[in-house]
Amino acid sequence: MSLYALIRPLLFRLPPEMAHQLTFAGLDGLQAIGLLRGYCQRQISSAPASKLLMGLNFPNPLGIAAGLDKNADHLSALLSLGVGFVEVGTVTLRPQSGNPRPRLFRLPAEQALINRMGFNNKGVDHLVMRLRQYRQKGGQAIVGVNIGKNKDSDDAILDYQTCLQRVYADADYVVVNISSPNTPGLRAWQNPSELMALLTALKDQQQKLPKKVPLVVKIAPDLDESGVATLMKCLRQTEVEGVIATNTTISREAVAQVPHAQETGGLSGLPLRKLGDHVLHQVVEHAERSLVVIASGGVSCPEYALHKLQLGADLVQMYSGLIYQGPELIWQSLNALEK
Ligand code: FNR
Repeated sequence: MSLYALIRPLLFRLPPEMAHQLTFAGLDGLQAIGLLRGYCQRQISSAPASKLLMGLNFPNPLGIAAGLDKNADHLSALLSLGVGFVEVGTVTLRPQSGNPRPRLFRLPAEQALINRMGFNNKGVDHLVMRLRQYRQKGGQAIVGVNIGKNKDSDDAILDYQTCLQRVYADADYVVVNISSPNTPGLRAWQNPSELMALLTALKDQQQKLPKKVPLVVKIAPDLDESGVATLMKCLRQTEVEGVIATNTTISREAVAQVPHAQETGGLSGLPLRKLGDHVLHQVVEHAERSLVVIASGGVSCPEYALHKLQLGADLVQMYSGLIYQGPELIWQSLNALEK
């Protein structure tokens, strides 16, 4: 039995956000005394080859999805787990507290989570400070920064532009999050005219920056086929560098009537897998190999990580699977991918 399988029943007795904080306290502690990296490295017998994408050399294709480390407070510990990259955020221009608790729910029988966190974060300046600290200590791993807009903002484009301006020097890539279901009106930025306006503004700004930072757009799984086709056309036209398919879903079709199943928010984990794969398949086709495709949604075992790559994803991210399986999911997936 894995170490995490022993600890998990205890963690699952705590409210999810408290368990989250406690886990990070443990990981940060092990990292501080130098025990984490070596232990994790010993669990990985062989890792897949590195991949050059968007001008970045990913040591392996597995990453941690946005939302786990919203403020870049735990970068060293997360990167020690063995992943090839970490995406921090979503960060907004100004700090915000997010929605009232409870806002995160476990659905253990379904290996799923529902969250309506609402972009709780310490603001972009804090994130940049933490990312710089990581870099100053010699950290060279690939870190993506996922940016959003404040709930009460009346100029979303300016929010995204300012966040891009503040993070570009330290971020390896920047994700434009227009797919969280928990910020009212955010998903409307996926509509063609809004999307073109937003991406044109960000592309203009990208070109003026002293360092080129790739732009990636994270999309919802709740788009229909024509919605995906139109959105992908916008991404190709504006020449963004990548796309993440997908964020959490507002659909409850794939989840059984278990406690919390009808909570408002985004559903992630195992029940998201089929829908996520369906959208990923379309995204890969429409990307026409001109964009990097990052898969996210429902990776709860090594076979599913492999399947995302077989569907044509270049990179794969995990979140909910780590809550249920622990870091073994990373190690087993790396070992399986190499085979
Ligand atoms: C998320 N996710 C997320 N995504 C994002 O772009 N910005 C964010 O701030 C968050 N926050 C967040 C919080 C919590 C508690 C969860 C469970 C998820 C979505 C996440 O990055 C991922 O895309 C989905 O969870 C789907 O992947 P998994 O969880 O099925 O592997």
